[in-house]
Amino acid sequence: MQIRSIDWDDRRLTLTWATGETSEFPHLWLRDNCPSAFHPQTGERSFDLLSVESSLKPATVVPNVHGVEIVWAGDGHVSRYDAGWLAARRPGLRREDPADVTPVTWGAGITAHLPSASASDLAKGGETLALWMEALLRYGIVRVTDVSTDAEAGRHLAESIGFLRQTNFGTVFEVVSMPDPNNQAYTSDALPLHTDLPNQELAPGIQFLHCLANEAEGGGSRFVDGFRVAEAVRDADPDAFHLLSTVDIPFRFHDRDYDIRSRSPVVVLGHDGRLVEVRFSPHMADTFDLPIELVEPYYRAFRLFMERTRDPSLMIATRLMAGEMVVFDNRRVLHGREAFRPNTGFRHLRGFYVDHGEFRSRLRVLRREAPAPESVAAA
Ligand code: OGA
Ligand code: ZN
Repeated sequence: MQIRSIDWDDRRLTLTWATGETSEFPHLWLRDNCPSAFHPQTGERSFDLLSVESSLKPATVVPNVHGVEIVWAGDGHVSRYDAGWLAARRPGLRREDPADVTPVTWGAGITAHLPSASASDLAKGGETLALWMEALLRYGIVRVTDVSTDAEAGRHLAESIGFLRQTNFGTVFEVVSMPDPNNQAYTSDALPLHTDLPNQELAPGIQFLHCLANEAEGGGSRFVDGFRVAEAVRDADPDAFHLLSTVDIPFRFHDRDYDIRSRSPVVVLGHDGRLVEVRFSPHMADTFDLPIELVEPYYRAFRLFMERTRDPSLMIATRLMAGEMVVFDNRRVLHGREAFRPNTGFRHLRGFYVDHGEFRSRLRVLRREAPAPESVAAA
């Protein structure tokens, strides 16, 4: 954006853009964001905010070919700002972020349109990988085909995106029916719809489930959008929604070596009421230790949420095939499986997690190389 005129007083610089819009920049903000405030190599701020008075003011403000040049009263420091840089960061404008993808909630109808890419296409990186990652942030679930049944293939793909999150179940967890299981996943029992490890301080972000073999009778997979479930509960019963989004409940995993606990509401909301996270696991919910007057209303709310997670009109009901991988946001999408009969065939899934921070970082870096079509158009 071009600057048409510049005004300033003791508090702020006011820029009028060529479009006629105006933006105000407090002097302390300008000084704190002077290009010289950032280390030339690290890009991190090296300026000490307390080294200037909070009431600092310019001595002179003059336009230059790129934007604005300010000489500060007091220490005489010169700051030069680029007009485009100021326009992109003007106060009140949320910082542009390629990884800030608005969730779109879904029901059973998504089954036939699940965003999908082959492992070999994703391995090339670039636009295909970026679009697939954006789809994951938008819908909370995507698929990878042709991963091969090489046990490590899915893991390598996940590692090309970010560091794997290590948990008490290891860096990779092997979902097989095993003797002496320490988790319901390691039995052949049904797993009701849940998010993984709500008992952790931070529940794992993105979950990868790579299917290596699925030959036993039963063992179908279920996925449901926890954000859609939360919306359905909110519409049907605002009081129940209020309890689910404000009352912390305890989650716990314990075995011989661990006792990992956390408390959280089932529905975590942002300050603005936005859905941020769904944490729901019947098998990891600990005994509800709520005040007596909340126990019955809370059970009513919890059951309503649970009923909606099993509503066929909200659910993807599928059967994973060997060589297929499902990748989903474990802080949003619930997953489950039907019971299977281990004596009828072998079933083996491998799971691993990449946290949201790593995942989004990878997407931002991809978008540096290949900007999204919309941001090209907006530039
Ligand atoms: C799990 C899990 C799904 C399956 O291991 O947490 O949900 O299909 N497994 O076995
Ligand atoms: Zn699980």
